[in-house]
Amino acid sequence: MNQALLQVKVQRKTVEAADICTYELVDASGAALPHFSAGSHIDVHVSEGTVRQYSLCNSSLEKHRYLIAVLRDPKSRGGSNAMHDIIQEGNLIQISEPKNHFQLAHAARRSLLVAGGIGVTPILCMAERLANVDAPFEMHYCTRSRERTAFVDRIANSNFANKVHFHFDDGPASQKLDVVRLLSDALAGTHLYVCGPTGFMDFVLGEAKRLGWDDERVHREYFSAEVQKSEADESFDVKIASTGKLIRIPHDQTVVDALAAADIEIPVSCAQGVCGTCLTRVIEGEPDHRDMYLTDEERAQNDQFLPCCSRAKSKLLVLDL
Ligand code: FES
Repeated sequence: MNQALLQVKVQRKTVEAADICTYELVDASGAALPHFSAGSHIDVHVSEGTVRQYSLCNSSLEKHRYLIAVLRDPKSRGGSNAMHDIIQEGNLIQISEPKNHFQLAHAARRSLLVAGGIGVTPILCMAERLANVDAPFEMHYCTRSRERTAFVDRIANSNFANKVHFHFDDGPASQKLDVVRLLSDALAGTHLYVCGPTGFMDFVLGEAKRLGWDDERVHREYFSAEVQKSEADESFDVKIASTGKLIRIPHDQTVVDALAAADIEIPVSCAQGVCGTCLTRVIEGEPDHRDMYLTDEERAQNDQFLPCCSRAKSKLLVLDL
């Protein structure tokens, strides 16, 4: 199943902060771009075989452009370096239409937005949206230092500047974020949104869980993850419900790769269990969930899984393919 791609032009590339560039993307023919909502991301086809997800960080009211920000990651698998080194103003690139797996809960009485580093991109878009509709929120933005903090001026000049608290790792102790206090003091009906590096998110989400926040009030978006592999991984079988075809998944191969070898293509984007592109319905059997995308509740239902990284606890999984 191929997803429709858009061809866009890199209208402007700007150094936003140390190691962070923003890219303003416009329709190559000058047309309006498809609408998006706060929290959306696009898949960017960075180079042959390299597709990366970047959150949109401009106002969701804008139709003439998408804005993304990319951190040069020293541990990059090639995507962020290529974005910084190869993609230049005037280039035409292919992107997906916006998708949103990190939506604002419109029933929230109050929103607590917590960003770590480049995780600010969807969070900033959410702050702008909440400010536009006059919804109560506060935003906490943690970074290593001021030089490595994107969008300082944009936030300072916004109409929600007084709702944003910066926390710099190299700043005085008094301005560091006290996550436990923040989560403990939140008013009833508050929804929490977290985006940032894995360790940062695990800490904030772990504290939220420990303090008794319900899953439905906690929203998160990981942008990368280590795919868990283990020496103890075993082979298992996958049955394709529509044809009855049985495919063996070797202990050292992903479900997506084993199915591709049998000419069964599942769309893949991040290949790390963070984007949700490969989400597949499970009709029978018990998945061994290894993604960062599903919530605990969704995992417990065992009726869907992410075959780019997840495996099986049962000998057989029957997939709705
Ligand atoms: Fe991103 Fe599987 S491809 S979750």
